[in-house]
Amino acid sequence: MTKDVIIALDFPTKEETLRFLDRFPAGEKPFVKIGMELFYAGGPETVREIKARGHKIFLDLKLHDIPNTVKRAMSVLSGLDVDMVNLHAAGGSAMMKAALEGLTRPDGTRPLLIAVTQLTSTDAAALKNELLISASMAETVLSYAKNAAVSGLDGVVCSPLEAALVKERCGKAFCTVTPGVRFAGGDVGDQKRVMTPEKAGRSGCDCIVMGRPITQAKDPVEAYRQAVREFLG
Ligand code: C5P
Repeated sequence: MTKDVIIALDFPTKEETLRFLDRFPAGEKPFVKIGMELFYAGGPETVREIKARGHKIFLDLKLHDIPNTVKRAMSVLSGLDVDMVNLHAAGGSAMMKAALEGLTRPDGTRPLLIAVTQLTSTDAAALKNELLISASMAETVLSYAKNAAVSGLDGVVCSPLEAALVKERCGKAFCTVTPGVRFAGGDVGDQKRVMTPEKAGRSGCDCIVMGRPITQAKDPVEAYRQAVREFLG
C-alpha cells in the first residue's frame, strides 16, 4: 500500500465538506475518510460526489453484524467505488471472510478491507470489567489483527504506537492505518495516545488519518502539506 496522509472529513453536512475540499487547488486531491457522521447525513450521494472530484475514499463505517448481512452491505459499499472500507474484527473470521466476498466486484477488483481491533476509547478496565476479556490490551489487539490477517483482510486500524508490533506479528505487507496523529506542540483534543506525523512515518504506519489538526487549522492546505512532508520524510 502506498504511504499516504488521509484527511478525516468529520463535518456534519455535504455542503460544509465540499467547501472544505474547495480550498485545495484543482490538481491537489488528498485521500479522504468519510465516517458515520457525514455518511449518515449526506448518504451515498456525498460519497459519489467526492469520488467524482477525484479523491480516494476510505469509508469508515465499522461494520459489525452477522456474516450474511455484512456481506450484502459490503457489496453495496463496493458499488460506490470507494478505495477502502472497514469492519470490527470482533465480528469474527466468518464475518470477515463474508465481507471480503461481498466486496469483491464481478471483475475481481475490490476496495481494501481493514479491521478495527479494539477501539482506542476502550481502556484496560473496560476490557476486563465490561467486555470480560482477561487478556491484556496489547495481546487482544495483536490477536484480533492476526485473525484479520488469517481471514484475508488487508490490514488494521490501530494506534501508531502499535503499528510496529502489528507488522511484526502479521507481516510487513499487512497495512496499518493509524489515527491519533498530532503535530508537535499541537492540541491533542480527546486523543489519548498520540504521535507526530514524522515519528509515525518511522514507526511502520502505512497511512495516517488526521482530522482536526488539518480541518480546524487556519490554513488547512498548508497543514495537510506539512503532514505529508513530515510523514513521507
Ligand atoms: O480529529 P482527529 O485527528 O482526532 O480525527 C481522527 C479520526 O480518526 C476521527 O475520524 C476518528 O473517528 C477516527 N478514529 C480514531 N480512533 C480510532 C478509530 C478511528 O480517532 N480508533
